[in-house]
Amino acid sequence: MENQGHFPYDFIDRVIFPQEEIERRVKALGEQITADYKDSEKLLLLGLLRGSVVFITDLMRKIHRPLTMDFMSVSSYNKSESSGFVRIDSDHKTNIRGWDVILIDDIVDSGYTIRTVSKLLLDREPRSLKVCALLDKPERHKVEVGIDYLGFSIPDYFVVGYGLDYDEKGRNLPYIASIDLKKGEG
Ligand code: IMP
Ligand code: MG
Repeated sequence: MENQGHFPYDFIDRVIFPQEEIERRVKALGEQITADYKDSEKLLLLGLLRGSVVFITDLMRKIHRPLTMDFMSVSSYNKSESSGFVRIDSDHKTNIRGWDVILIDDIVDSGYTIRTVSKLLLDREPRSLKVCALLDKPERHKVEVGIDYLGFSIPDYFVVGYGLDYDEKGRNLPYIASIDLKKGEG
């Protein structure tokens, strides 16, 4: 177990998913995807930067099929809690027409990101489109989103690690931890 009190960031509260548990889950997702895409010769993993980077690089090595990888960068800005707008900062390079695309994100919160990007990708006529997320906070959904491959569901915690950040910090942690902003205040 990670040693409580010896975390590299002050704001970490506790470990929710240790490294070994994430590894097991990612391996299982890879096996499921390998089986589901056994007849596909054009599989594309499309990751959303930057949160999905750690997840996608581990996951791709558990998928025993030919595949390619691409990325998009999007940012969401919520004017209020109830309205979400998603902006494309950098688009993918691959022409996805005719490809079996799996859209990969670190975590689904309101669902606006996945919904907006999915709609955009469907206009580009992939052969198929599925969604894979490491984490989901179902209590926080504002719109309905279908997640075809999910790592774990969590309650309404803010979490960091394994690619996820708090204000760009914490992505390098090998585990997933919840944060407590009052810790480290003095
Ligand atoms: P959505 O559009 O509200 O579903 O937002 C999803 C995005 O919000 C994710 O891709 C993350 O970048 C960010 N996010 C939401 N919850 C968390 C969290 O608990 N930790 C880190 N990032 C989060
Ligand atoms: Mg993100």
